Amino acid sequence: MPFVYIDDLTVGMILGEDLFTSKNRLVLAEGIALTAEHLEMLKSWGIVELDITEESLGEEYLRQQEAVAQFTEQAESYLFRRFILNEIDQEPMATVYSHTVHRSAQNLLHGWEPTVFLGELDVDLEERIPPLSVPKLLTGDVELVSLPGVYHRIIEVMDHPDSSAQMLAQVISKDAFMSLRLLTLVNSPIYGFSGKIDSVTRAASLLGTNELTTLAIGVSVVSKFKNIPSELVDMDAYWRHSIRCGLYAKILAQHLGLLGEESYFTGGLLHDIGRLILLDRASLQYKRAVAKARKDHSPMFRAEQEVLQTDHSIVGKLLAMRWRLPTPLVRMIGGHHSPSANDYAIEASLMHVADVLAHACGHEVNLVNEIPPLQMKAWKATGLKEDVIATAIRQVDVEFRDVVQIFFSE
Ligand SMILES: [Fe+2]
Ligand SMILES: [Fe+2]
Repeated sequence: MPFVYIDDLTVGMILGEDLFTSKNRLVLAEGIALTAEHLEMLKSWGIVELDITEESLGEEYLRQQEAVAQFTEQAESYLFRRFILNEIDQEPMATVYSHTVHRSAQNLLHGWEPTVFLGELDVDLEERIPPLSVPKLLTGDVELVSLPGVYHRIIEVMDHPDSSAQMLAQVISKDAFMSLRLLTLVNSPIYGFSGKIDSVTRAASLLGTNELTTLAIGVSVVSKFKNIPSELVDMDAYWRHSIRCGLYAKILAQHLGLLGEESYFTGGLLHDIGRLILLDRASLQYKRAVAKARKDHSPMFRAEQEVLQTDHSIVGKLLAMRWRLPTPLVRMIGGHHSPSANDYAIEASLMHVADVLAHACGHEVNLVNEIPPLQMKAWKATGLKEDVIATAIRQVDVEFRDVVQIFFSE
């Protein structure tokens, strides 16, 4: 009996086999005709595909599948190269890969053109260049590495022994740009509050001071770093990747029931911030690292370590510490490529997984063509199971557009 992908299921299709939960509880019996409620329920459970009787597939479905199948090979040959550093016949990347192939084939059918692969850079890797000084990256140009005044006033309030949501709201309300961005975010599907939240005071009481502060940090940093000019990086793609990573991190954190899930969104937003510092302040050296990564088909952070003796996660971590960001955020930024060096702390491991998912499920090809390899120990440390992937991919798709709008509307 054919397996039908969750997004292609339609009302009236008949289940060809009993459906059990992971705890072996029967949820839907063989022979049942699917209703709209069933479809919603199946999606929320993260079911990827179902066994459906041949007779109930319907002509429309068969026509659709035939059309998509014609693009599967093209999708695979494109994605095979993107996934080359990952084990696509081993979970969880097997699930990620099969989803991505199916979605890409569907997109191709609707006229999507895969991103063109980047070629090698014309850089002489033997030529001597000035060595990189990490301390120098983060000092001197105060303008780049300092944040807007409102951010410092927020930190002052938070440091105050009697700090309250009320005081925080007062500080934020004085900054019109910050207030507007925060309120739009709080009213977006990321939070899913019912009813409109129309004041910062109300937002502070609903979210709590820590969450609101973390979000304010995210807004400050994005507004500061949004338009850094770079010949190497497409900034639009950079921020799209960061937003996607933030959404994956937040959704996975919610799934695990972790405390402070909002900080995971901000963590994703900022996880690669060290890269912007390197691009801006050491572009010559960074170009050499990019050239090496493209030549060797190695992950960017490895090439950075070889060429620069440091990498963007370390630079990001130092910057985060300089900004006095909360410790969990420092761990997310500093540990997303080296969860082992962070004893597989949940912040580092989860951000690592979110980063790989964001690379795999977004089509932004930036700096290098290959999706960085998933470190299995980090995946295991999160305690996640592959059945969350389908739901996460779908949920990020829904939220992504709205959130991009919020950060990038002028
Ligand atoms: Fe990174
Ligand atoms: Fe990343």
